[in-house]
Amino acid sequence: MIRLAGIDVGNDSVKLVLEGATEPVVIPSILAPGYERHVFQEEDAPLKALDVRIHSPKLKRNRERYFVGLLAMEDQDNSELEETDNKATSDQALIVALTALAYAALTSGAYPPAEGQGPEVAEYIVGTGLPVRTYTGYHKSFEERLVGEHEVTFLSTPKLRGRVVRVVIRRAVVSIEGAAALFHMATHDNLSVRNEELYYGCIGICEMGALTTDFPVIKRMSIDNQFSTGEQFGLAVYLDGIIREVEDQYGHRFPSRAKLIQRIKSGDYLIRRIGEGQADIRPIVDTYFGRAANKVLDLILKRWKKNPDIQCFYVLGGGGAALRGYLTEAAGLVRLRFVEDGEFQNVYGYLKLAKNKQLQALDAAAVAAEEA
Ligand SMILES: Nc1ncnc2c1ncn2[C@@H]1O[C@H](COP(=O)(O)OP(=O)(O)OP(=O)(O)O)[C@@H](O)[C@H]1O
Ligand SMILES: [Mg+2]
Repeated sequence: MIRLAGIDVGNDSVKLVLEGATEPVVIPSILAPGYERHVFQEEDAPLKALDVRIHSPKLKRNRERYFVGLLAMEDQDNSELEETDNKATSDQALIVALTALAYAALTSGAYPPAEGQGPEVAEYIVGTGLPVRTYTGYHKSFEERLVGEHEVTFLSTPKLRGRVVRVVIRRAVVSIEGAAALFHMATHDNLSVRNEELYYGCIGICEMGALTTDFPVIKRMSIDNQFSTGEQFGLAVYLDGIIREVEDQYGHRFPSRAKLIQRIKSGDYLIRRIGEGQADIRPIVDTYFGRAANKVLDLILKRWKKNPDIQCFYVLGGGGAALRGYLTEAAGLVRLRFVEDGEFQNVYGYLKLAKNKQLQALDAAAVAAEEA
């Protein structure tokens, strides 16, 4: 059975949805070198301890062992994606993506444990995407890297220990971050038009991720080559600024951006200080996020001025979710649009675009068969 999957290889997290599934799988984009670890108490979910060996002809270093996601987050030797990494060519991005695809295959119930010891085969058609500025130069190489046969072996991962998945990617449909999100918002699951304004209009998108912010402009569902752009910054620089400032002022160090975001999301701004003191970091967060919102708003208004055909502007991505309140306030009378789950709009769009390509291919095959 070939399954359709949408996969958003984010700098902050990889998000994956399988056709027919309701919830996306989210894995932080963090890796650490793997080793034989002492497990005193097994974690209660596989996602908490992804420990894999990956074999793929597309990797520069093959058959290495890695801790992926949450398990890598606590490791001193871990690495997150950096500004200079390119999703289309980086080994790290491919490793996390393959782990996600293998994990989803085993946990979606589609592939019960195989009899005997042979690897289980998970065949996919995947939809994915690249930032506006990387797309033209790299979509071909990204596609070529994904397509093919890879193998993921789960090592100390609870419930999946010892299972081997051959991940076969038959086809990869690469689109553009932000543009895919709009396709999702404009269509139903069966791909019919859901929102005519979005489908036939001229729409501006600001999709703010961890390290990149994309500004595609889409007219009647086609990307505008002249006006679409991207910026090499995202929420991460502001999170790093907050972490530094909190450390300088209060001597409290957040071990990762993820830990800080957890606090902000839950609205818990009080940190404990040594000697039973407390400090409120809200003013620092407000300062940095306010600054971020002003910068993003400035970029949006510049683009809107240049292209008055734009009917409305959507702010998406995790950065959009984080800055929503600050942006709305800064924008005053200018209306910006937000949606719930802004950080998942791309991945749902990738799945739909893969489905769209697949339907077109089937149609073409049917026509060819009729003509034969
Ligand atoms: N609902 C939310 N509220 C607040 N912050 C969020 C939310 N969702 C995600 N974030 C934060 O926003 C940032 C960007 O998240 P997002 O998932 O859009 O990045 P990404 O897609 O992995 O990165 P990129 O697009 O640069 O590859 C991250 O730091 C993340 O922790
Ligand atoms: Mg993103």
